[in-house]
Amino acid sequence: MHRTITDGARQQPPPNGIDCLRVTPSRPVPPLLQDARSGLLDRPRSMPPKYFYDHRGACLFDAICDTPEYYPTRTEEALLQRHAQEIIALVKPDHIIEFGSGTSRKTRHLLDACSDSDRPVTYWPFDVCEPVLRETGHALMQDYDWLNVRPLLGDYHAGLDELPVPEGPCLYLFLGGTIGNFDSPDAHRFLAEICNRMQADDCLVMGADRVKAHAVLHAAYNDAEGITAEFNLNLLEVLNRGLDADFDPGRFRHRAVYNDAREQIEMYLVARERHQVRLGALDCAMSLQEGESILTEISRKFSVESLQSMLTEAGYMLDRHYQPDNHYYSLLLARPVLERSEA
Ligand code: AVJ
Repeated sequence: MHRTITDGARQQPPPNGIDCLRVTPSRPVPPLLQDARSGLLDRPRSMPPKYFYDHRGACLFDAICDTPEYYPTRTEEALLQRHAQEIIALVKPDHIIEFGSGTSRKTRHLLDACSDSDRPVTYWPFDVCEPVLRETGHALMQDYDWLNVRPLLGDYHAGLDELPVPEGPCLYLFLGGTIGNFDSPDAHRFLAEICNRMQADDCLVMGADRVKAHAVLHAAYNDAEGITAEFNLNLLEVLNRGLDADFDPGRFRHRAVYNDAREQIEMYLVARERHQVRLGALDCAMSLQEGESILTEISRKFSVESLQSMLTEAGYMLDRHYQPDNHYYSLLLARPVLERSEA
């Protein structure tokens, strides 16, 4: 294909995007320094998975999604594509609020299904990454000229008290299976926080990965190309920058195993040899034995029963459950159970 000069001349300058609303944290979120102090120096060693996602980490995660082994993203996208019309018809949202919206790629299926709505729809993407929010917001406004986009900048781990409460039916979205990164108490707190904000006509649409054959799970976190390993090891670069540390990725290996008893994938960085790492910002060093590991992520896998009880305990009732024929993944539509007013 030959592009003419006029094609280039018609191009607009790169947009720096639309303005974001800053969401004030309703409780303090520990800074990296604090997470590193408690995570790296206490045993067993661990770090919260949110630190994976610097720019390179986000790109590596996208690359993981393109590997043949990593089924969750494409499975969830297929479910959204197949059921978007029904979801939108059921909820008739005036507002869509998405936690961890990223580039909102999968959300477009729901937005497409809104295009026939006779009422204005506002999309509120909520994310920690301002440049991505601004650019994505801009792109969405161009592609959906009927859509209001109000990006929300903040960290959903810090509570939801300061989120705007819009008028009219609201669809809360939590996609990607990220609920699996929360341990059980944190998942409960987060889901209950959303539920506490909800009105009778609101609903939550959430994606969650399912328990399945161990070989399938294992392969998804140990892709043949080694991209998941790169993603895991990239955390060390994030820590080197953020903590003025001297982790040598060459001295660690990626390990991801399915813990059958806990129904979760556990991802570790394992020291290949005994060595020391200097943590400048903490003004100390950590000594690692050969084979010693740092837990970098849990990714919980759910059964229909464990999803049901997680939702019930957080105050919801399950309204629709979408899954593919192989039961690899769940897309759930849940509604708040509201106290009945006096008869
Ligand atoms: C984006 C958190 C759902 O747990 O499967 C992918 C992250 N980690 N491969 C997941 C991830 C390793 C992913 N989530």
